[in-house]
Amino acid sequence: MKITAKELRQKWLDFYKSKGHVDIGAVSLIGDGTTGVMFNVAGMQPLMPYLLGKPHPAGKRLCNVQGCMRTVDIDSVGDPSHFTFFEMMGNWSLGDYFKKEKTAWTFEILTDVFGLDKDKLCTTVFEGNDSAPRDDETAQLLISLGIKPEHVFYLPKEDNWWELEGTVGTPCGPDNEWFYPIRNLENPSFPDDYVEIGNDVYMQYKKTETGYEPLSSKNVDTGFGFDRMLLFLNGLDDAYLTDLFTGALAKLEELSGKKYSDGGETQRAMRIIADHTRTTVMLIGDRCGILPSNVGAGYILRRIMRRSIRYCRTLGVPATAMLEVAKVFIREVYNESYPLLVEKEEYILDEIGKEAARFESTLVTGMKEFDKCLQGIARKNEFMKKQDPSYKEETVIGGKQAFRLYDTYGFPLELTEELAAEKGLTVDTVGFDAAFKEHQEKSRVIAKGEAKGGLESHSEMATKYHTATHLLNAALKTVLSPDCNQRGSNITDERMRFDFNFDRAMTAEEVQAVEDLVNEKIKEDLPVVFREMSLEEARRENFVGVFDSKYGDVVKTYSIGEFSKEMCGGPHVAHTGVLGHFKIQKEQSSSAGVRRIKAVLE
Ligand code: ALA
Repeated sequence: MKITAKELRQKWLDFYKSKGHVDIGAVSLIGDGTTGVMFNVAGMQPLMPYLLGKPHPAGKRLCNVQGCMRTVDIDSVGDPSHFTFFEMMGNWSLGDYFKKEKTAWTFEILTDVFGLDKDKLCTTVFEGNDSAPRDDETAQLLISLGIKPEHVFYLPKEDNWWELEGTVGTPCGPDNEWFYPIRNLENPSFPDDYVEIGNDVYMQYKKTETGYEPLSSKNVDTGFGFDRMLLFLNGLDDAYLTDLFTGALAKLEELSGKKYSDGGETQRAMRIIADHTRTTVMLIGDRCGILPSNVGAGYILRRIMRRSIRYCRTLGVPATAMLEVAKVFIREVYNESYPLLVEKEEYILDEIGKEAARFESTLVTGMKEFDKCLQGIARKNEFMKKQDPSYKEETVIGGKQAFRLYDTYGFPLELTEELAAEKGLTVDTVGFDAAFKEHQEKSRVIAKGEAKGGLESHSEMATKYHTATHLLNAALKTVLSPDCNQRGSNITDERMRFDFNFDRAMTAEEVQAVEDLVNEKIKEDLPVVFREMSLEEARRENFVGVFDSKYGDVVKTYSIGEFSKEMCGGPHVAHTGVLGHFKIQKEQSSSAGVRRIKAVLE
């Protein structure tokens, strides 16, 4: 290795610090909901309010290396250059320096610090349109720095304008993209032999419903792909051969007895398992960590995990191989840059193990079921062809069958689609959605019946404890951190148990403060209000809870005054005054990163 991942990270931060920037560190990988994006897709995303003009506490010059997730390319993972998780090396000017300094610094870090050949660098700038002028200024600056004039290209909006797709009210602008030849070729030609290594966005506009308006301050938003730069600087053409992945691959070679260099399906499977396991570790181990589920971000995680488990099978290793690979990432690769992963190792491994066990047990029978679908189609085609030689062969797997694979065997729709594509078939996704809806309707009817029964059998005391968990949940968010979320609860007539994510023991003062706050809210005798609303509305109004339903669904919510807002099926007391006195008896660890509170109502 000419340069290791750890060295590259440091070089980027040191360089920008030497130019007066403050390293603000990485934030959570999970989107904060402000743009409706589930995950951070770019380093600038968490900085949106500051790019729009709010003063940043760390000043006007910032830098970091930020974890990002993009799942649009998930089907391409398996080739030498795609990932679901990656890191972006970034730096920002919030209304401070602009094009002159930025072009000079990018040029300096690429040539002086990283040693790229200035004669091979190519760059592109915005050619201009009705919203913004042609960026001659940047082009001139680049040439004056030493970029060959014939290596500066003007391109249209599709190429040289950066914005967050599908959003409004977000900052955007023309960008200057930097390219370098693959494998450091001797006589490369642009664009065929080149790949993009990063870009400087001159964020001076705000996207509106109808177009763009100038921002009060001119900002710079720089993003260079960390994983990709590492590949470049080491003169490699396979991103999985950098030290971010070699440990994981060695582990997979050891467990499978196969060689990465064998190529073909073995290599593809190893890349997929390595990438997906890394993403899994990052999502579960994130400070706002998520778990696999059937909706939203949790569903994306489940898809990634199950795709990986499936490829473990292709490689001939048990799904638990993911645990070994996860350990490599946690202990050797990201231990310094993501210390939280080390703290949460036990929890992460535990959750991977659980999902692996859940899916592995049905994967084999599910695959048999899938094969039966294929045989069914083949038989039908054969039969019909005998009757009518001009019969057009059936190439679609029915929606009901795909739903059965989802419902009974836990196959994400995308997995069935991928398996189908391998056989040259497609899946009737409209039929799948219809089957999904029909099933939901049925379960809703059943759930209504159960809820009614449940309500009757719910004792008055259990109902009180249930309302107390909502107060406790809100109090923990207030006293400890808004990132604290319920991880589970268990209620009897005698006591309540409540699990939540938090990475250390609570102090005695914090326990007291939480208890006091709950009792204060009981004294205020707040009304407990039930309301049904759309999932989108619940999200908008900041109701917390497991978004365990499909988009467009109606959800049940309970709010307690202005203090607590949760999605929940109930039942609850009508007002908090009836709860009595709340007492925390114990605060202890439940598993890594998860605390447990035992409390009573006296
Ligand atoms: N926001 C720019 C990007 O994501 C830097 O590429």
